[in-house]
Amino acid sequence: MNFINTMDDLFHMLDRCTEGVDWDTFYTKRDKPAPFLKYNKLPDKCVVDFIERHDIKKACEFGCGEGRNAIYLAQNNIDTEAYDLSEIAIENAKRNAREGKAEKAVFKAGNIFALDFMDKKFDLVIDSGIFHHLAPHRRLQYRDIVSNILAKEGHFILLCFAAGEDGADEVDDYEFYRSRQTGVAFTEERLKEFWGKKFDVVDLRKGENIVDDRTWESEYLYICVFRKVS
Ligand SMILES: C[S@@+](CC[C@H](N)C(=O)[O-])C[C@H]1O[C@@H](n2cnc3c(N)ncnc32)[C@H](O)[C@@H]1O
Repeated sequence: MNFINTMDDLFHMLDRCTEGVDWDTFYTKRDKPAPFLKYNKLPDKCVVDFIERHDIKKACEFGCGEGRNAIYLAQNNIDTEAYDLSEIAIENAKRNAREGKAEKAVFKAGNIFALDFMDKKFDLVIDSGIFHHLAPHRRLQYRDIVSNILAKEGHFILLCFAAGEDGADEVDDYEFYRSRQTGVAFTEERLKEFWGKKFDVVDLRKGENIVDDRTWESEYLYICVFRKVS
């Protein structure tokens, strides 16, 4: 029998009730029309643009998937740690990193809410597609994790589903639980309201449909660059 005696117990119960995409199956079957699978060797355009303008030494990526951003960072001489829930995605990322000679990328499988980052500090954290899959009860904790592991004035690049586009529907947090959503879309106002509590907004814009031989971006995402409030 399961009982709720601690806040951790409560969070675990809510996690169980909101289990969403089975990511190992997703990366094994590969039958979904997801652009990040199709372009799984190309980094996000906003990441490339950012790295070309900033001197980043240490970076961390959450929900790194098959490693396309982390590998790009490592190839640009940045010490990079990258985490993903899916062991299959991490195996593929390690293989892609070997092929791409990206030795500075360290990949680990794990749930970010169970990882111990101790006193690690990074100049840059990237989230390209994990925040919009998190259930509402985990979002505040997630914002704290991102803020805590960033060095003073460190940056956070977030790509997430834009309301009104094809990626996912914008639903309120009660509806998320009622209708068992696996992902939600955000408005610009909502992103500013939520992340603005701990971060300055450096840039926030809708993506465009762009693909070239180095990068890509998509109109179904908001692209945000936040800086930790000092
Ligand atoms: C939409 S995919 C994006 C993958 C990658 N960032 C990309 O763009 O190629 C979201 C990723 O987040 C990972 N993820 C979801 N929840 C997670 C969690 N709690 N901890 C770590 N990774 C998680 C999934 O396994 C999946 O690979």
